Amino acid sequence: MSRVSIPDLIKKYNEGESLTMLTAYDAPIARQVDRGGVDMILVGDSAGDNHLGYEDTLPLTLEEALSNTAAVDRAVEDAMVVGDMPFLSYGTSLEESVENAGQFMKGAGADAVKLETAPYGETTIEIVSRLTELGIPVVGHIGLTPQRMNQIGGGYVQGRGSDTSATAEALIETAKRLEEAGAFSIILEATTEETGKQITEAVDIPTIGIGAGRYVDGQVLVITDVLGLSEESYQLSKQYADLNSIIGDAVESYVDDVREGEFPSAENVFDAIEKENNQ
Ligand code: KIV
Repeated sequence: MSRVSIPDLIKKYNEGESLTMLTAYDAPIARQVDRGGVDMILVGDSAGDNHLGYEDTLPLTLEEALSNTAAVDRAVEDAMVVGDMPFLSYGTSLEESVENAGQFMKGAGADAVKLETAPYGETTIEIVSRLTELGIPVVGHIGLTPQRMNQIGGGYVQGRGSDTSATAEALIETAKRLEEAGAFSIILEATTEETGKQITEAVDIPTIGIGAGRYVDGQVLVITDVLGLSEESYQLSKQYADLNSIIGDAVESYVDDVREGEFPSAENVFDAIEKENNQ
C-alpha cells in the first residue's frame, strides 16, 4: 500500500476533514503512530529535547535528524513521512539547503521536508520555491519557531504584536508567501486563536496547528507529550496515556523479579536443569 500523498491530503482538506499529524523519532513509536491512522508523521527537530536529551532543538545535527528519519521511514507503511530540517541545515546557502533537503528524500526516505520561516522570511521563501521546483514537497512552519528562540526570548504566543510576538499581519503575509512559493501545507505554532483562523482563511493550503486554536485545518502534537513520556506538560497539548508510569512500573517489576529469583523461570531457559526439591 502506498503512503498518503499530497493529493490525498488535499482531497481530505477539500472535503473538510481535519488532518492529523504526530511526531515520531524512532521505529517502534513510528510503527504504532502509523497503525493509529495519522495522515502525517513529522520526524521533528523536537527530537533534540524529546528524544536525544538536548536542552532544546538547536543542537540537533543533520546526521541525527537523517538517522531518525530513516528509522521512521523503515517502520511506516501508510502515513506521509515529513523530515524536519534542523537549525542551520538550511538557509546558509541555496545550494547547501537543496543538498541537505535532498538527503532527507534520497537517503532517509522522507516524503516531504519541513522548515521554519521567520516573519516575511525572504531567504526561506526562496529556498521553499527552489525545493518545490525541484520536486521536494515542503511543509512551512510559522508562528513560534523554536529555532529562533534566542531571538524571540522564550515560548511566547505569536500574533499579538509586541517585542516578543509578531503581528498577525506579518504571519498572514508570510503564510501567503509560503503558499506562493509552493509549500503544500503550513504548520502554525503557538498563535492566538484569531491569528490561526485568519491565516487559515487567507491561504488555500491546509494549516496544521499546534497551539493555534480550533479554526485550522489539522492538528499536530509532539508524541512524547501525547504518550506521557515528557517531564513537563504544556497548555497547547493533551496527554492521552501515561507511559512514564507504565514503563516505571514495568522496570520495577523486572528488578523485583530478578532480585527475588522469579525471572528467568524454567520457561525462559534452554534445556532447563531439573531443580531439586526445596531448591
Ligand atoms: O519539531 C517539532 O516537533 C515541530 C512541531 C512542534 C510542529 O516542529
